[in-house]
Amino acid sequence: ERVEWSAETATKGGYEHFMLKEIHEQPGALRNTIHGRLNALDGTVELDDFPEGTFSEIEEVQFVGMGTSYHAAMYASNMLSARGVPSYAFQAGEYGLVRPPVKSNTLVVAVTQSGETADTLDAIRRAQSAGARTVAITNTVGSSVTRECDETLLIRAGPEIGVAATKTFCSQVTALSMIGERLVEDVTGGQSNSARDLVESMSRLPGHVQEVLDTSIASAVAKEYKDADSYFFIGRGVAHPVALEGALKFKEISYEHAEGFAASELKHGPLALVTPNTPVFAVFTGFDDEATLSNMKEVQARGAPVIAVTSKTDGEIAEFADHVLSIPETHPDMAGIPASVQLQLVAYHAADLLDRPIDKPRNLAKSVTVQ
Ligand code: G6P
Repeated sequence: ERVEWSAETATKGGYEHFMLKEIHEQPGALRNTIHGRLNALDGTVELDDFPEGTFSEIEEVQFVGMGTSYHAAMYASNMLSARGVPSYAFQAGEYGLVRPPVKSNTLVVAVTQSGETADTLDAIRRAQSAGARTVAITNTVGSSVTRECDETLLIRAGPEIGVAATKTFCSQVTALSMIGERLVEDVTGGQSNSARDLVESMSRLPGHVQEVLDTSIASAVAKEYKDADSYFFIGRGVAHPVALEGALKFKEISYEHAEGFAASELKHGPLALVTPNTPVFAVFTGFDDEATLSNMKEVQARGAPVIAVTSKTDGEIAEFADHVLSIPETHPDMAGIPASVQLQLVAYHAADLLDRPIDKPRNLAKSVTVQ
């Protein structure tokens, strides 16, 4: 048998697509993201450029980003609001129209893998001219966003070739969680009770994601539902942006209709679309799981199959779900990361079974530098 080699297959390191390679690179990417930045024993973060007290003047945080980066921004803002830091997330492209009030004690955080997204740079310029302090969370050393923002925190995920962002999403959320921990301490004037748990969960992320990669049944789930009409994703709290990201990944590469909702939103419209041909992916983080369980039962009552993403493999959730994509037990604020990896795998395998191009979906670009 002849083995065909090209520069491209060589850099794919044996994987059929860059996307799958990058999904599997996540434990290493996360190790880089957190390297030297966590003190799990004390439950503190150690970010060189953001020492203790760096945000003590900050009263409000506005996160801006587009696409996957917007979902990471929303994840951070949901997490920080619940921990006492007034936080909001905006699609960067809407920022100039919504024009949220900005003061000198407002921190605006740009989340952007490439550091070159036009809408995100535009939002940062507006925030700066209104007097805000600005921080860039990016993967790209020397990118425009690093030059325009006052400070930068690199996510260190390594180069990402697939148009659909995967490892950079998990690294963004992790970097945001670390800077978020600094914000919680500085803005609220002390460590929260669960900080130690949270930081320890951050340190376990590489292993937790590896566990998902080693055990996932996502390809079997994708196979079972690859001919469905539409795919829905639900979650609450930080699982809401995870649901949105799951749907985005799915539609981007499979070309099938997929939508994400806050689980609480279901009754207010989306439920009308639910049929036996619309599988629903329900994301459980361990926070308010009871409420999501009842949403899960509502869609099942309309005949929809439910795939639960959860760490609770032996309770009511697993009993009622048609399939379980399991994630390790961890702090609810971190559970969205292994959950996202499960949903990336489902999207990948569905797109692969449908024979889509995957790494370069039609009409999409890795970096959108026009508004
Ligand atoms: C494009 C890409 C997405 C990405 C978004 C924002 O739409 O296809 O994968 O999430 O831009 O890009 P950024 O580089 O700012 O994170």
